[in-house]
This record gives sequence, structure tokens and C-alpha cells, in this order.
Amino acid sequence: MDITGLAAKLERLDPRVAAAAERLATAIPAVRARLELRYERLLAGMEASVKPYRGETASFTRLPTHGLASDEVLATVEGLAARERPRWRDGLASGAVYHGGDDHLAFLNRVYAATSQLNPLHADLWPSGVKFEAEIVAMTAAMLGGDAPGGQVVGTVTSGGTESILLAMKAYRDRARARPLGRGRVTRPVVVAPTTAHVAFDKAAQYFGIGLVRVPVGPGYRADVAAMRRAVTGNTVALVGSAPSFPHGVVDPIEELAAVAAERKIGFHTDACLGGFVLPWARRLGHDVPAFDFAVPGVTSMSADPHKFGYAAKGASVVLYRGAELRSHQYFTATEWPGGLYFSPTMAGSRPGALSAACWAAMVATGEDGYLEATGRVLATGAAIRDGVAAIPGLRVLGDPLWVVAFASDTVDIYRVLERMTGRGWSLNGLHRPAAVHLCVTLRHTQPGVAERFLADLRASVAEVAAEPPGQGGAAPVYGLAATLPFRGVVGDLLKKYIDLLYRP
Ligand SMILES: Cc1ncc(COP(=O)(O)O)c(C=O)c1O
Repeated sequence: MDITGLAAKLERLDPRVAAAAERLATAIPAVRARLELRYERLLAGMEASVKPYRGETASFTRLPTHGLASDEVLATVEGLAARERPRWRDGLASGAVYHGGDDHLAFLNRVYAATSQLNPLHADLWPSGVKFEAEIVAMTAAMLGGDAPGGQVVGTVTSGGTESILLAMKAYRDRARARPLGRGRVTRPVVVAPTTAHVAFDKAAQYFGIGLVRVPVGPGYRADVAAMRRAVTGNTVALVGSAPSFPHGVVDPIEELAAVAAERKIGFHTDACLGGFVLPWARRLGHDVPAFDFAVPGVTSMSADPHKFGYAAKGASVVLYRGAELRSHQYFTATEWPGGLYFSPTMAGSRPGALSAACWAAMVATGEDGYLEATGRVLATGAAIRDGVAAIPGLRVLGDPLWVVAFASDTVDIYRVLERMTGRGWSLNGLHRPAAVHLCVTLRHTQPGVAERFLADLRASVAEVAAEPPGQGGAAPVYGLAATLPFRGVVGDLLKKYIDLLYRP
């Protein structure tokens, strides 16, 4: 049986029919065995690329009997970092490193070194952490329309965009639960999000037992307002929109979506993890940026990530709420524990306060003028890349993005193009539904020659794939293969096995 052919057929079916067909097909031992063999080969191919140091540097599966000399340890760590640096420093990665300039990193590292013991759990020992975090939240809120009259925007610092989203969804769930019994009481909290909203909303749904309704997007890969409205029921606690979305970099019609939420008296979360530190400055630079923040009355929460375009070190995000009452549903408190009265604002207990110090330092050292200047460079490079991609025969840009440029093809296998680009050193993102690839432009790509190199490599990769007979051309495109398999349950198992593999020394 040709599994890829079967896969393509199942992919076109209604998801429920496809799931039933998957159960039937994978119940046939021969099909299951072929799939597993194929997945094992895939995994074996992946292992080598994530374990390049095997057999090269000392590996530890138990503590060394005698501790190593710190010079020796440092030499190992610095040696590994030096090997990995050129790829991201030279702008070959999509997203991943958003600033990466030598002086900026040295500055953040000094702040980290000065505060490495800071734990915000102990506010009495480190009131500096309290100051840093309160000011990060205030500065982010003010940047995102929170200083408008009646804004009352509050928030907390978290470890990343995912945690910000998880906490906002938990807050909506718990607010719904806290409402008095009676008419209109939510029995099963549900969040409605466009298919393109970040996968962290699925994670929130899984972790917190929230229902998630994913609504297909409309033209230009933007949320379909009418369809989102139709998806709202008495159990819906919040709607979601992205500014912009991770896959295609387009901003959802936040004003219209938030108006639906306000009309139904439910929450609205703008996920501005990617755009929170770009869009306010893009607007000031004269770009056409639709309303997306707390200036829109129906927006009740937002996520924005300093560890992306805020140019902080990794591990810093902000979740914001309109009003302290909503935020209070995020908090954890315990009054009966023998360890004493306990409270924590976010998921972790002890937290790396040095990351908050570095985040605060990045924000105050960059300032409005710094963010304006950086945003101007990112958007100019984004436009050059978007136009350059659109000019390559066989490729088309999806939607109307500013700096996250997704592209697909009707003539060549885009995953083979991705594979060729990987061979040329690039680390791009493979997307599916529809099959596409994206580059998230950061300051790394604004360096002289990087955009030109990207476009030249992409042109050459497309030409090579176009010239190659179908079904040939090197190793199987790993991402493409996984993306076209409809056996989602089996693919899910494969992903778990992949995580297992990462933790094998
Ligand atoms: C739009 C959007 N939301 C949420 C996230 C999740 O952020 P993190 O990876 O920091 O958890 C991302 C990450 O790229 C994103 O692009």
C-alpha cells in the first residue's frame, strides 16, 4: 500500500472521517508496521542532527567523582557556544535571536552576572526584583494602549509567550467558575480562536481542561469575524486574535473580533507576543497598523514578549489585563500549608529574577528611540524580503505580512525547497495546512548582505527543485513527510518519541 497516497486522500476528508479512517487503517498490522518503520527511519535521521557532539566532547551520565576544574568546564561551554554562534549571528535563523549584537549581549550578560541570585519569590531580600517587574509591566502596558483613559491595565512578568497565554486562559476559566450559580453560569469553559492562533492556546486547553474551538481563517489568512461570531456559545469565556500570527505574520481584525466579545460580555485576548514590541513603533513610522491593543475597548488581555522584539534575554514575557479583578484569577495562594502562607503570581515558584533584571535593562537602555530605529530596520528588510520572494517564479507570499514572510508554491514541493535551504545553512520554519515556509525577520537579517543572500539562495533552491524529477532529490524531506501524513495520532506518538530522544545523552 502506498502510504503517502493514502495520506493525501485522507487529508482531504472531513477531520472526523479522517480520524475514523486513521483508526481503521492503523488497525491493519501491515499498515501500522510500515508506518512505524518509516517513523523510526525519520527519527534515526533526526538524531544525528541534534547530537553532533556525541563521541567528541566528554559526556556525563552520572556526576563526576571529583568536580572538574572550572577552567575546563568553561572551555567546554564556551567552545560549544562558539561553534553554534555563527549560524544565528550571521542571520541564518528565522526568528530565534532577535537582537544578537555583541555590545547588547555583553550588556545583558553584565546585568545577569550582577543579579544571578535574584529570586522574586523573596521580595524582602530582593526589592530590586519587585521594582524591575512592576516597571516592566507598566512600560509594556503604556506602550500597548494601557495609558488611555479608563485603561486600568495591570499584569505580571512571565517566563515566555506560552506562559503568558496559559495564564490568561486560566484567568478566564477561573473567572467564569467564580461567577455565582444561576442563569448564564458557564458549565464547560470554551475559548474560540482562529486556526492560526499560537499552539500555546491548545496547550492551555489541555493543561486547564478548557474547550478550544478552532475557527478556519478567512481571506489573507486573517480571522474570519463572522465565523468566530457563529462559534460563540453560552460556554465561551474568551475570544482570541493575533497581532500578528506566528505562521503568516498577519494581524487579525482585532477591533471587529473584540466588538463581538464585548457584545457577548466575554473576554478578548490579543496575542501580541510577536508584535507587541514592533507594531506600536511601526504605526509611529507611518505603517498602516490596525488597532490591536488596549485602545480597543473590548480587548481585556494581551501577551507581549520582551524576549523577542523587546531585545531582552530569553525567558521574559508580559501578560496584561484590563483590571486587577481579572488578573487576580491568575494568582495562586495557599493559606493552610505548614510551610507558611504562600502566594505566587505565575506558574513557577522560585523564578530567575536575573532575567527580569536583564529585561528591565534591555527596555530602559533601548528606549522609544531605540525601538523606533530597530523597527524601521526590521520592516525595511521585511519589505525587501517579501518583495524579493514574490518576484521568484514559482513562489507566492501568503497574505500581506510586514516582517514574518510565509511563502508557498503551486509548482514545486515547498518542503524540498526548505530542505535545500537547510543544506545552504538556513534554519527556516516549515508550516502546514497549507504547506509553506516562513522567515521571521529580526535585526540579524538587517545586516548588510543577509537579505540578498537569502533571496539568492532561495532562487537557486527553487530552480534546483524545479529541475529535479519528482520523487527524487536527496533525503526524504522530513518536515514534508510528517506534514502530509494524516495519521495524526501516530505523528503525535512520533513527536513524543522525539522528545524522549532529546533526553537521551
Ligand atoms: C504569536 C505568538 N504567540 C505566542 C508565542 C509563544 O512564545 P514562546 O515561544 O515565548 O512561548 C509565539 C512564539 O513564537 C508567537 O509567535
